[in-house]
Amino acid sequence: MNNRVYIFDTTLRDGEQSPGVSLNVSEKLEIARQLARLGVDIIEAGFPITSQGDFEAVKNIAREVRGVTVAGLARTNFADIDRAWEAVKQADQPRIHTFIATSDIHLKHKLRMSREQVLESAAAAVRHAKKYTADVEFSAEDASRSDLDFLCRVMEAVIEAGATTVNIPDTVGYTTPDEYAEIIRTIMSRTKGIEKAVVSVHCHDDLGLAVANSLAAVLAGARQVEGAINGIGERAGNASIEEFVMALYTRRDRYSLETGINAEEIYRTSKLVSKLTGMDIQPNKAVVGKNAFAHESGIHQDGVLKERTTYEIMNPAMVGLSHSNLVLGKHSGRHAFRSRLVELGFVLNDAELNKAFARFKDLADRKKEIADQDIEAIVENEIRKV
Ligand code: KIV
Ligand code: ZN
Repeated sequence: MNNRVYIFDTTLRDGEQSPGVSLNVSEKLEIARQLARLGVDIIEAGFPITSQGDFEAVKNIAREVRGVTVAGLARTNFADIDRAWEAVKQADQPRIHTFIATSDIHLKHKLRMSREQVLESAAAAVRHAKKYTADVEFSAEDASRSDLDFLCRVMEAVIEAGATTVNIPDTVGYTTPDEYAEIIRTIMSRTKGIEKAVVSVHCHDDLGLAVANSLAAVLAGARQVEGAINGIGERAGNASIEEFVMALYTRRDRYSLETGINAEEIYRTSKLVSKLTGMDIQPNKAVVGKNAFAHESGIHQDGVLKERTTYEIMNPAMVGLSHSNLVLGKHSGRHAFRSRLVELGFVLNDAELNKAFARFKDLADRKKEIADQDIEAIVENEIRKV
């Protein structure tokens, strides 16, 4: 089986659906350019029917950002699909992404449609989209809570109609890695014609399992993973692309799968998305959080100073960060303290070092984090002065 996993970035569509986030056309374009530098395969630039602004943004991205597939989202009605095509048609590789829910709970309460009607609508939408472009993705919204036999029938019908990517979203972040892998395996073994399409997954993070579920899905055979930078998106968000990619790379001993991501662009992309969406990154967020490569305890700092891999499973330089960060606080040890002194240009003899370290510990009991200025003040005012 092919070992390339395609990365479908939906920061600009599902990510923008994060409560309180609204990006204007130029902000979307700036993020899209950075996503192209990051090396994502597909940029879902927006949902063109939803507003004139979104339509313009998708159109601009399709025209300006080359060398990447640009997708526009559409429900299965023809007006949505026509609008999506108008927006993406100038892209190097335009994709129409159409979706309809397949779970009984959505059919009964939201769509008020029968299973047969949904099946017909899905196939008709794909046929219509196919008149515009060869690259058509179909998503079965709420797939993970759908009846599996029905889901397989829908997949078969849309592939027969020409879908080249079939997406199995865990729309409400309900599934677990073992269950999701089983769903993917079942669809791949039971759906006639499945080998003609790329199987895609799209996981939400309501139970904090979006990345774990995506990893389980690629082990089961999925070859497109959808997600957003910093894991932003509806409610608890989407699978975080940087976490998924770094997990795949760091544990390549288990996955043997590749992406086209240029990991050195991860940190810059994360910062840009955070700045333009106004969504802060939690300090302990994996891969891109302020503390992701920070070490506070003396034992950890000593280990990292002796050999980085004692407490770091990824090299910060790989994701575009210049170095790890030894945070000086009350748990820090003499080794880290001396190393920071050297970085600041101070070479102390043993007696001076002992005295400075005692002062530092004393201060650290009162102050959460010791800044470089605090250390300079200790040395210049209390050690060197006397
Ligand atoms: O979560 C979801 O099901 C979606 C689809 C539109 C792909 O975002
Ligand atoms: Zn979603």
